[in-house]
Amino acid sequence: MSEYTHLFLGTAFTSKSPQEIHILKDHLFCINVDGMIANIVAPEDADYQPLLAVYQGKDNFHQLADGQYFLPGFVDLHVHAPQWAQSGTALDIPLYDWLNTYTFPLESKFADLEFAKKVYDDVVSTLLANGTTTALYFATVHKEASVLLAQICADKGQRGLVGKVVMDDAEQNPEFYRDADTQSALADTEDFILAVKELAKSAKQGIYPVVTPRFIPSCTDDALQGLGELAAKYDTHIQSHCSESDWAHGYVKDRFNKNDAYALNDFGLLSDKSVMAHCNFLDDQDADLFAKTGTAVAHCPISNAYFANSVIPVAHLHDKGVEIGLGSDISGGFSPSLFDNIRQAVMSSRMLEDGVNPALPAGERGLPNSRITVNQAFYLATAGGGESLSLPIGRIGENYAWDVQIIDTKLPAAKLPIYDENEDLNDIFQKIMYLVSPEHIREVWVQGDKVHSR
Ligand code: GUN
Ligand code: FE
Repeated sequence: MSEYTHLFLGTAFTSKSPQEIHILKDHLFCINVDGMIANIVAPEDADYQPLLAVYQGKDNFHQLADGQYFLPGFVDLHVHAPQWAQSGTALDIPLYDWLNTYTFPLESKFADLEFAKKVYDDVVSTLLANGTTTALYFATVHKEASVLLAQICADKGQRGLVGKVVMDDAEQNPEFYRDADTQSALADTEDFILAVKELAKSAKQGIYPVVTPRFIPSCTDDALQGLGELAAKYDTHIQSHCSESDWAHGYVKDRFNKNDAYALNDFGLLSDKSVMAHCNFLDDQDADLFAKTGTAVAHCPISNAYFANSVIPVAHLHDKGVEIGLGSDISGGFSPSLFDNIRQAVMSSRMLEDGVNPALPAGERGLPNSRITVNQAFYLATAGGGESLSLPIGRIGENYAWDVQIIDTKLPAAKLPIYDENEDLNDIFQKIMYLVSPEHIREVWVQGDKVHSR
């Protein structure tokens, strides 16, 4: 019998497909020294009793209490770490004004490493406490503070993918907050990539540098071209904003006479390791290009309700074979919780399907076949995120990382409404999706290590 680093016993929910939840009732989860799930054993399997006999009672045997469940850790595909400092504020003005009035002045303060440390410590801990085990972060233009964010993820045990933001166009960005010039933007990005790769050597869970043009309006053609080349040279992930709002989408059309997707592709910025935030205004050709290049969409449903001027047809994009995950888009989205974003993803899709203008007849109000179920939204927050990043995460399955959150439905101060001992586990799953708050998340594990408990 193999020797495992940890053995867990309990009931887990994980995606079988975008539509279906796989329920692993009272299974054993065997974790190896690398923090990977080496073996999953069902109660009827021959190994079950022998494994129990060996591990039960040992320090590395963990049995869930009644009313507790495993979920995969969440994968947040779009977080602006510095913007945690303004979460919940300034959501009442359009994107362009919000960036210039609030966001760029805030981000400029991350030249100060002491301030950066305070905010970055908090945002990483807060996301872990909300069940987010992997996060794809935008930092700021500052190289040192961006490396600091990667260091904090490494120290706290979160799987962090971090980008130093590039904004080099002197015409488009304020003097107080931009790269000094194109050359230094590219040189700083290369230094940043090398520094994070060095850091990653001692972080078991994985820490990754990400090439990060903020969005096309922030960057010169030369910067976009150079960033595409750096991503290819170092085989990095790539992130940006794509076709987010009427204004941002229109700006790119005016500049290049094509949509963001094709413009980004011309600069070598669409690949299997690319994740583009928002993408509300992708047309069918753009979507086909995403599917062909393996580029993923970070769907940010809360932020989109404020800044995107529309509801993204996420069901349609999924049907076209585009990889999609979920993003909080802190602070365009106010919530650090992907549970909240799962809920908003479902609700927004229902409003797109039915339409929202009561003055129109029912048959003309909406866009048919737009709804997604809560199972699909959960898939986006977990398995879809893992696929988007091309990493073995987001599922509770063999050869996936042991990245989990342990949910307690019987917390005395916040019991979920479960009254029948034999309630259908599918119903319990839905109650968890809609009603869990951070206090129900009792433990969070990343790559086989406990990184949060309460
Ligand atoms: N487009 C460019 N920068 C940003 C940002 O920080 N947030 C959002 N939502 N959109 C952007
Ligand atoms: Fe964003």
